[in-house]
Amino acid sequence: MTTIRLRKARAEDLDTLVNLEFSVFPGDRISRRSWRDLLKSPSALVTVATVGDIVAGCTVVLLNKRTAIARLYSIAVAPEARKQGVARLLLDVVMLAAAETGACLLRLETRFDNLQAQRLFIHLGFKPFKRIPAYYEDGAEAIRYQRMISDDEIHARPESKSCHLN
Ligand SMILES: CC(C)(COP(=O)(O)OP(=O)(O)OC[C@H]1O[C@@H](n2cnc3c(N)ncnc32)[C@H](O)[C@@H]1OP(=O)(O)O)[C@@H](O)C(=O)NCCC(=O)NCCS
Repeated sequence: MTTIRLRKARAEDLDTLVNLEFSVFPGDRISRRSWRDLLKSPSALVTVATVGDIVAGCTVVLLNKRTAIARLYSIAVAPEARKQGVARLLLDVVMLAAAETGACLLRLETRFDNLQAQRLFIHLGFKPFKRIPAYYEDGAEAIRYQRMISDDEIHARPESKSCHLN
């Protein structure tokens, strides 16, 4: 059985994250410079999933204490590590981190034709609510999804604050 471990990304993961991004996304990639900024940003949580010494996947979630909405900025799993639950584990961490920051909703955008990702998000309770034309570099449409942070996740918060969305 494969053991998948999760940890917060470190500055020395920069090359690995850039390479993972190249191996996973044909376009709309996060640049090396943006990765460096994300790794330093107090409002971004970059988490990596490792199998042995290999980084098998990563997520970036943007968390802002001033808004009730957290944003999943990126999720990528190396092709050879897919269908083993790596993305689900990474998304568990994202959900808990969003709850801990006080977010009530987690939002994300995905390409209209990315059916694998959409199936996963729907299975995890995300609902599509908006289409955004010409969102990607090649002109493709995005579908915006959101998921409420559940009561259980909210109760895991340090102060167990309730959600008030404006
Ligand atoms: C979308 C993506 C992140 C999913 O990553 P993943 O690690 O394969 O996802 P998981 O393994 O957690 O789940 C994928 C499916 O495998 C299934 N699965 C998980 N573990 C499994 C196992 N041990 N055996 C068989 N199936 C399994 C899950 O149930 C899930 O099924 P579903 O799609 O019907 O819900 C990955 O395909 C990817 O990186 N794609 C390219 C980048 C991308 O599109 N990112 C999203 C941009 S918005």
